[in-house]
Amino acid sequence: MATKWTPDSWRKFPIKQQPDWPDAAALESVETRLASFPPLVFAGEARRLKAQLADVAEGRAFLLQGGDCAESFAEFHADNIRDTFRVLLQMAVVLTYGANCPVVKVGRMAGQFAKPRSSGTEVQDGVELPSYRGDVVNAMEFTAAARRPDPERLIQGYGQSAATLNLLRAFAQGGFADLHRVQRWNNGFVARSPQGARYQELADRISDALDFMEACGVTSETMPQLRSVDFYTSHEALLLGYEQALSRVDSTTGDWYDCSAHMLWIGDRTRQVDGAHVEFLRGVGNPVAVKAGPTTEVDELLRLIETLDPRNEPGRITVICRLGADKVDSLLPPLVRAVAREGRKVVWACDPMHGNTVKSSTGYKTRAFDRILAEVRSFFAVHLAEGSYGGGVHFELTGQDVTECTGGAQAITEHALADRYHTHCDPRLNASQALELAFIIAEALKKERDGTARLAAAS
Ligand code: PEP
Ligand code: CO
Repeated sequence: MATKWTPDSWRKFPIKQQPDWPDAAALESVETRLASFPPLVFAGEARRLKAQLADVAEGRAFLLQGGDCAESFAEFHADNIRDTFRVLLQMAVVLTYGANCPVVKVGRMAGQFAKPRSSGTEVQDGVELPSYRGDVVNAMEFTAAARRPDPERLIQGYGQSAATLNLLRAFAQGGFADLHRVQRWNNGFVARSPQGARYQELADRISDALDFMEACGVTSETMPQLRSVDFYTSHEALLLGYEQALSRVDSTTGDWYDCSAHMLWIGDRTRQVDGAHVEFLRGVGNPVAVKAGPTTEVDELLRLIETLDPRNEPGRITVICRLGADKVDSLLPPLVRAVAREGRKVVWACDPMHGNTVKSSTGYKTRAFDRILAEVRSFFAVHLAEGSYGGGVHFELTGQDVTECTGGAQAITEHALADRYHTHCDPRLNASQALELAFIIAEALKKERDGTARLAAAS
């Protein structure tokens, strides 16, 4: 029997991946201040996303989730936010057009700061210091002062999240995302790449269609869906003191929501069924996701789903698989079958990044475009074979022209990684690589959807 949930009931459960805050009183005072701040999102918005994810679970829409591995204080700039938002819009257009399917857009943005680490400390030249855990905890520089966890950083993270979200809302609603601007989203270095040319063709076709519609009297004024997009935020709910402080009771329903983002996920390292992270997220009404890595057992996943979603509520659970390109074929089918056997409807999303991280010969943590693509392809193939629906993708990407993942049409080599390797944590796809993937996924998705439609027609 589950015990009674309260916003702080997680504090009695074993917890992983928390910083060793040196000053408990300072942390408590920061959490009290955060609890008095305005929520970043509203419960009603989280419910709207849940309803859209229910459509994804039913095979009627597709989830596109992406953004930085870790946002940083240093890269907090309107241009960076705009560029990441823009590449997500471009990818969504490619997917919507290519696969005839509405796309639910969720950023790893406006709060994606805290990072789980494989080790609590890092040793350099015989000196051992706490690991870097994201800018809301400590700084990356390898000095004792920089690595000391400082709760004031949580306040700065809240402020940056609020400003980022404010700009995202302006972009989504204020004209930038108007479909009539579809050609202008193709900008900067992407426009000069082969993907940019391919995108331009598609954008021209959409523009022609819009001109035709306009002649028929359908304009952005008469049809608000053309003028704006729904764009949601998400991050890993890792620092539970922060998440608790931003949780609020929704006045409409009386339920608790974590108002730090629309959607929260539990990372692969903190998904213990009887651990603090699961305890916290089971009590908030947001859509939640769990990462499923190569060590995820079938029974474990079923218990996680049962604990987080006892009412089998449509759109509540997304399972983000990050198994590694070589393991999808063997590990994914048993998970998909078990979930189907239990009559569970979840959103199945593919994170082809975290199972395919390697160290390059030049010393950089990287991911090869081909391995990323291979994982996505296997993910779709398994779902198609199982009569299930692979309904989403989850990428670490940026709108900037970085060189962090190898390969793609730009053919970034291991030696080129040093040119523009800027990430604060894991290697991200740049905008051109991300768009390239979107074109390939659109084709795979179309095939999957045609296949599902054929199966449905035959049964
Ligand atoms: C992440 O999404 O950045 C992450 C750490 O993923 P995972 O929990 O799947 O390792
Ligand atoms: Co990452």
